[in-house]
Amino acid sequence: MTEESIIRFEHVTKQYDPGDPAVLKSVSFEIQRGKFYTLLGPSGCGKTTILRLIAGFTEPSEGKIYFNGKVINKVPANNRQVNTVFQDYALFPHLNVFENVAFGLRIKGVKGAALSAKVTEALRFVNLSGYENREITEMSGGQRQRVAIARAIVNEPEILLLDEPLSALDLKLRTEMQYELRELQRRLGITFIFVTHDQEEALAMSDEIFVLSEGTIQQSGTPNDIYDEPINRFVADFIGESNIVKGRMLRDFEVEIAGHPYECVDQGLNDGEIVDIVIRPEDLEITSPEKGKMQVRVDTQLFRGVHYEISCYDDANNEWLVHSTRKAAVGERIGLYFEPEAIHVMRLGETEEEFDRRLESYEDGAGQPAQGGGGSHGS
Ligand SMILES: Nc1ncnc2c1ncn2[C@@H]1O[C@H](COP(=O)(O)OP(=O)(O)O)[C@@H](O)[C@H]1O
Ligand SMILES: [Mg+2]
Repeated sequence: MTEESIIRFEHVTKQYDPGDPAVLKSVSFEIQRGKFYTLLGPSGCGKTTILRLIAGFTEPSEGKIYFNGKVINKVPANNRQVNTVFQDYALFPHLNVFENVAFGLRIKGVKGAALSAKVTEALRFVNLSGYENREITEMSGGQRQRVAIARAIVNEPEILLLDEPLSALDLKLRTEMQYELRELQRRLGITFIFVTHDQEEALAMSDEIFVLSEGTIQQSGTPNDIYDEPINRFVADFIGESNIVKGRMLRDFEVEIAGHPYECVDQGLNDGEIVDIVIRPEDLEITSPEKGKMQVRVDTQLFRGVHYEISCYDDANNEWLVHSTRKAAVGERIGLYFEPEAIHVMRLGETEEEFDRRLESYEDGAGQPAQGGGGSHGS
């Protein structure tokens, strides 16, 4: 380990009411100081609950939460170096911009020139210098968003929690705010924990992403790690567009898909093991039928501005989505070419530790044979 983590969850389980199902199930993770983290997952998977636990608005049912190495399970919210930007901003409509930002400091007894200096500085950080006397009701959605951020950073928290702060904005403003937030995090150097259910937003903004589903972390890693090497069907499907089909390992470096053998880069699985296969649409190249590794028929084609999105079917009736700058003709028989590395083999039910170990063994070239048992024949 290089540096001490600022936040650490150790087997944290959360039930809101005894007898209810757990909304977080033995969740463990570490957050390093000064990075931009994103909790990504569908609605109801437990993202807000994790923020509430970090902020101290609720307590874990089991497990420990550490802040700078000390357990904080029982530390009240107002004694934590954490501030939250809520989805609805929770600004005071009857106060102007200055007073909204100053509110928390006034409660702490800060006043006069010291107060003005801090508020002015926070507003400058979010590009709202000169808006001090504006009423909240006169501010646009994007400006309100920035006031909410200024109000959070004026307290100089060590961690800023942002709960879907961009979801109320239209697409253009949302993209602008993504850049602004990312830039703000770099300038402030504080740890951001950002929540979204939007995978593109997560990929664009984060140093690290935790992908959640039903109260568990499915995978954690950089945007590239998660996009390039999804751990399972859920992550592959949730992050970006994918072709996901069942396959069967024939032996090391060879997998059967829709009745045909293909060279792949995976090893150490059991011969005959049923696996999930992912091939990204941009990794499929259109060729003549003879030159392709797979032959398909074009079903539909959409122009997406940068590329064509082409839907094809193979003879086993699997759908294959292709992103190509080259046009195809609906009904045409074409070939699809792809490199062995384009095939991502996902072992059914593999844990993150097992998955990481398997991928590392490929890099080392060690080729550790796995112990049996992984080949459950699902669906
Ligand atoms: N105060 C609460 N009391 C009981 N159940 C709750 C409470 N808050 C959230 N939940 C439940 O916990 C689960 C996770 O919710 P939440 O953390 O808000 O998810 P997300 O932010 O990912 O949408 C949901 O099933 C939700 O209904
Ligand atoms: Mg939520």
